[in-house]
Amino acid sequence: MANEQAESRRISVSDIQGQKDGRPIVCLTAYSKPMAQWLDPHVDLLLVGDSLAMVIYGMETTRGVTLDAMINHGVAVMRGSEHACVIVDLPHGTYEDSPGQAYASASRVVEETGVQGVKLEGGTDMGATIKHLVDKGIPVLGHIGLLPQKAENRGGFKIQGKDDKGWKRVMADAEAVAGAGAFAMVIEGTIEALAREITETVSIPTIGIGASPACDGQILVTDDALGLFSDFTPKFVKRFAELGDEIERAAKAYAEEVHDRRFPGLEHCFGVAKQEKD
Ligand code: KIV
Repeated sequence: MANEQAESRRISVSDIQGQKDGRPIVCLTAYSKPMAQWLDPHVDLLLVGDSLAMVIYGMETTRGVTLDAMINHGVAVMRGSEHACVIVDLPHGTYEDSPGQAYASASRVVEETGVQGVKLEGGTDMGATIKHLVDKGIPVLGHIGLLPQKAENRGGFKIQGKDDKGWKRVMADAEAVAGAGAFAMVIEGTIEALAREITETVSIPTIGIGASPACDGQILVTDDALGLFSDFTPKFVKRFAELGDEIERAAKAYAEEVHDRRFPGLEHCFGVAKQEKD
């Protein structure tokens, strides 16, 4: 019974930390209650990522999403999840100015959603902020390498670490994030050898996206993996399903049945003799 209870409790950030060099950490994004329900039994960590700006709201970058929107989606995901560690992204403009600004945003996220922690983008520039949040009891998932919130200022979505200067910069970011007390870090869009070396160097788990199979875990944007977002498909995405095609097929079938008056059938109607139970 004690074991069953241990098995059924929610995964904590310490559990995630304990998976360094162990069983790979399985992570996906989720933005809604139904998606969280489908994914929750199969993943260690659900990220309410600010990728929802592009994937759900059709914005051109991740920078347009507000803290209130992230909190609303965090609440929805928590309603659908009982097993995974759930983390919410701090959106652009809500944490970069000062550790105090970051704490005000992060504490709202944690208090209003009940999630286990927050993710924020940055390395050496965010060390003091990460330390401040961790000291005040808010677990932080770091995010280094390609930083979507800053991509516009850095010449677009470019793979990081290709030259010596870039390699050293990302390595310094990794050390800063780990040294500041983050419980794990996402490494996005780096050359494979750099992500591998970071994973071997830092004491906290690395979670790769376009990084390396050597990372301690992997994350994908769920809508990419399921074929629900087709505006573009980065090289690092594997499509595990084509649900967009399936939705189109269902919408076409529905339209045909309504046009042909085959839907609704009498079995979908109320007050039809003898068939009705409620
Ligand atoms: O916003 C997001 O979905 C992310 C993942 C790509 C890691 O940050």
